Amino acid sequence: MINLRSFEVPTVVKHAPGAITFLADEVKALGCKRPMLVTDQGLVKAGLVEQATDVLKAANLDYVLFDSVVANPPIKLVDDAAKTFKQEGCDGLIGLGGGSPMDAAKAIGVVAVHGGSILDFEWADPQPIVKRIPPLVCVPTTAGTGSEVTLWAVITDPARKIKYNAGGTGLIAPHVALIDPLLTLGLPAHITAGTGIDAMTHAIECYTCAYAQPWPDAVALWAIETLAKWLPIAYAQGQNEEARYNVSMAAMLGGMSYGTESAGAVHAMSQTAGGVYDLPHGELTAALLAPVMEFNYLGEPVKYARMAQALGEDTWGMGVFDAAQLAAIAVTRLTETLGIPTLREMGIPEKDIPMLAQLAFDDPQTVGNPRDIDVAGYEKIYRSCFGK
Ligand SMILES: [Fe+2]
Repeated sequence: MINLRSFEVPTVVKHAPGAITFLADEVKALGCKRPMLVTDQGLVKAGLVEQATDVLKAANLDYVLFDSVVANPPIKLVDDAAKTFKQEGCDGLIGLGGGSPMDAAKAIGVVAVHGGSILDFEWADPQPIVKRIPPLVCVPTTAGTGSEVTLWAVITDPARKIKYNAGGTGLIAPHVALIDPLLTLGLPAHITAGTGIDAMTHAIECYTCAYAQPWPDAVALWAIETLAKWLPIAYAQGQNEEARYNVSMAAMLGGMSYGTESAGAVHAMSQTAGGVYDLPHGELTAALLAPVMEFNYLGEPVKYARMAQALGEDTWGMGVFDAAQLAAIAVTRLTETLGIPTLREMGIPEKDIPMLAQLAFDDPQTVGNPRDIDVAGYEKIYRSCFGK
């Protein structure tokens, strides 16, 4: 049987320091007269929503503000917002924020055009999403998720205590990603770190996963190299515009490397644990990356060795397995440098490890992992996070 591979990047990416000033132009160019601006209260307080609405008002563009997105957006929030979208006669969407507002905007668009509940659109074969969402401009305010270019929305189902993926089709992708690295200048160092390592995880998992393809490989490797160089600077000097620009670009390309397919063990673990404890995705992912790499490097030694070079390590004269392990060591050092909290510090109880290992194993992203992994393998990685 022929395994027909595909890769889809439907989003137009526009980027520059100060790009937010083009927001109204981009929305109008998509034919929208009354977009819904989807964002959260943190961004209202940070003044970033006002920056966006000032641009819309100056262009006399009518809009409806939906500013109550929460981290790990639940089904009801999306369904309620989609009702408002219809009642208010909206004809497009702006997703302003980190992953949660951008994913919520995609999901609102799915329900707005199909009806029903976002619960009906969990990824499945056949694909339940069959219509293009209304025109969507995504404006990221963190550099991590890459949601501004991905084909996925991650939604939380509190009843099942899980986060699930809707999407995997270009029909859900933003029409435009408007990337303004200046919007990330005010990010606190710990959020810069967590979201930045999440971006690196997207690139590392996609570069080494079972579905790897040449085009995303190239994109992912650039993202890894760029994050290794610039993320520590963005962390140490929040106002460094060059660092913020490079980290924003790398996060976008990390998201792009996802393509239509999924990641590996890190996201299988961080997404399932995130559904149980309602913790920030970036920090959880960042805490798990290095321990998973220590487990995984034997599965893709040549690519891991290449990653070690991209991470800035000197592998000259080394055997391939030593060079591969160096990639895991480099990421361990990076996450320590960036002060990523441990699972214990995040309040995850060690007694939950068997349950978490089973959840991770059952996650569909396990299939993409470069090394065979079973429940015992996940338990081993979780225990190593607790120093065992
Ligand atoms: Fe992620």
